[in-house]
Amino acid sequence: MRAELPTAELESRLSFGSAILRGADCEVYRSDWSSVAGEIPVLSILPASVEDVVAVVRWAVRHAIPLVPSGGRTGLSGGATPRSCDVVVSLERMRRILAVDAEQRTMTVEAGVATQVVQDAAAAHGLLYPVDFASRGSSQIGGNIATNAGGIRVLKYGLTRDWVAGLKMVTGSGELLELNRGLIKNASGYDLRHLVVGSEGTLGIVVEATLKLAAAPPPQQVLLLALPAMSMVMQAYARLRRTLSLSAFEFFTQAALEHVVAAGARAPFASPSPCYVLAEFDHDEAAMSAAFEELAASGVVTDAVLAKNNAEASGLWRLREGITESLSHRKPYKNDVSVRPGQIPSFMLRMDKLFGAEYPGFEVIWFGHVGDGNLHISIIPPAGYPREAFLAQCDRVTHMLGGVLQDFGGSISAEHGIGLLKRPYLRYTRPSAEVELMRQMKHVFDPKGIMNPGKLFPP
Ligand code: MLT
Ligand code: ZN
Repeated sequence: MRAELPTAELESRLSFGSAILRGADCEVYRSDWSSVAGEIPVLSILPASVEDVVAVVRWAVRHAIPLVPSGGRTGLSGGATPRSCDVVVSLERMRRILAVDAEQRTMTVEAGVATQVVQDAAAAHGLLYPVDFASRGSSQIGGNIATNAGGIRVLKYGLTRDWVAGLKMVTGSGELLELNRGLIKNASGYDLRHLVVGSEGTLGIVVEATLKLAAAPPPQQVLLLALPAMSMVMQAYARLRRTLSLSAFEFFTQAALEHVVAAGARAPFASPSPCYVLAEFDHDEAAMSAAFEELAASGVVTDAVLAKNNAEASGLWRLREGITESLSHRKPYKNDVSVRPGQIPSFMLRMDKLFGAEYPGFEVIWFGHVGDGNLHISIIPPAGYPREAFLAQCDRVTHMLGGVLQDFGGSISAEHGIGLLKRPYLRYTRPSAEVELMRQMKHVFDPKGIMNPGKLFPP
């Protein structure tokens, strides 16, 4: 147990509007949306300015205090989960939009701004911030950058990384870096901005970002297709993308749909199908009808619903976006894996065999961003199944899954990050030489090892 932290010294350096929380006020920082049961941190600091963050990190360096950066706490791998000896640094009070340059299509924001606030501010200028996911209301830009968040429109627009024109971060030694400064061209050596994107708070704390914005898209159509087999998903994808400009191609099974319907959504079809695809694309009635007819004639699609207005489009999206929330009370074990999109059919077949053999009696719920080669598979044990035995079984099978991913050259974490949960499996995706280089890079940014200790790297 550490002695009392020297907070008086820090308090005098923090600006008006910042806060230091203790005891029960820290409870909220204990966990994220993953199933990791964290501990209540010894302190939670809510800086109100970049200078505050610099002061906090320098104070932590002086006293060797471990810091856990915290955004909207919507992560799914325990990346922001503290131990009781950690100090959480939450960016929630740094949520100002600093500038919008509609002509240059950029927006500069503090790290604690919520994704949806950025999206709305871009829309107010007739522009689009296209990185999007179900947690848009709570997730924050700093956290999105720390995990290189993906989501539902990666197919057309790419990941968070593709929309960061520049960022400010405070390194683990308390230095403020301004990386790339919004430049489009900058061939002046290592692009440290891209090292920081996806570094899960292990190098420092992102405090500001200049985001790129896109032109507002043309009107979109949302189509839900019913398919007779998972093996046909990529046939549907190939046909749709041949003539339609897709912005999303999302997949889920009947098992997933049943959970969303049980949570209050309306079932889209009179009778169930093994799986479904939600496609969103630039409005093109003729191309859409031709594609549907061809898919129906070849038996790849057995039924379809096309949203006739925005409310119906939201209703269809709810069937896909509501999956995570509808499962959360069952505390599923989550896989978030990726292969190259062309490998999806053979990879699904291998996984289906593996999970069928190794998870008898468990519910295996498939969904995800198949157009990106990204599958989410949630495992749920029967009611009353002992938690420890369940997790041990999932750990054993995830090592086997890691072996399969190694065969495919895939990733054990497509978009949720490694955090705490996926550390034992990092080696299936990253060879030891690569992990060693990452450790060395961390040491350069964070020589005292105070930034998000224990995350990302295998113990
Ligand atoms: C999603 O695509 O819905 C998210 O990544 C969340 C999840 O995997 O549960
Ligand atoms: Zn996802």
